[in-house]
Amino acid sequence: MLDKEEGMAIQRLPIVILLSGSGSNLQAIIEASQKDLAVDIRAVISNRVDAYGLQRAKKAGIPTANIEHAHFDSREAFDQALLQLIDQYEPALVVLAGYMRILSPEFVAHYQGRMLNIHPSLLPKFRGLHTHQRAIEEGEKEHGATVHFVTTKLDGGPGIIQARIAVEKNDTTETLAARVLEQEHRIYPQAIRWYAQGRLELKDEVAYLDGEALDFSELT
Ligand code: GAR
Repeated sequence: MLDKEEGMAIQRLPIVILLSGSGSNLQAIIEASQKDLAVDIRAVISNRVDAYGLQRAKKAGIPTANIEHAHFDSREAFDQALLQLIDQYEPALVVLAGYMRILSPEFVAHYQGRMLNIHPSLLPKFRGLHTHQRAIEEGEKEHGATVHFVTTKLDGGPGIIQARIAVEKNDTTETLAARVLEQEHRIYPQAIRWYAQGRLELKDEVAYLDGEALDFSELT
């Protein structure tokens, strides 16, 4: 899609967003795209028909689709169908925004270097679920979120950007989650912006920003 802004043609990066839930990160990306994030959100796809994120997408006039794993015999068959669905939209980047399914190696390999994820912890700490609760239980002083390239390692892969916040004495999982989400809404559009600007790339399992290796080697 070409936009005209101040007489300049802007090339928007075509992206597809996958989600399973509320879609507050989707909302942040939509809002950033209405300002200075040059992406064209071609579709929002969910593995859950009741994901609120689908409503947010519809409200913003973005095409939506859902695909349910119950209709497939295996993870591989599901992921193959999902891949074909995604590729109909010809995205340059696939953005996982609260997409809560483990991905098959074939799926990950297909989008190598062009798929990002956000995870609500300071990776490599707290991969998987219940990150806020685990951070509180383990008496962490700091917590946060990480955007990373997706590789076959669950919630792993070369890191791109992290946001850190202090864990307060009286934090509950809800208060902590809310403050982390606020940060997610800041760092995810930032990582996508770098990618859209051609400043971010994955080479041999290392993420580079402006040609410099990003120092998140401990995440992989
Ligand atoms: C976010 O906190 C995101 O980091 C997390 O799911 C939430 C989705 O919120 N993702 C993961 O845990 C991936 N392992 P949202 O639907 O409101 O964007």
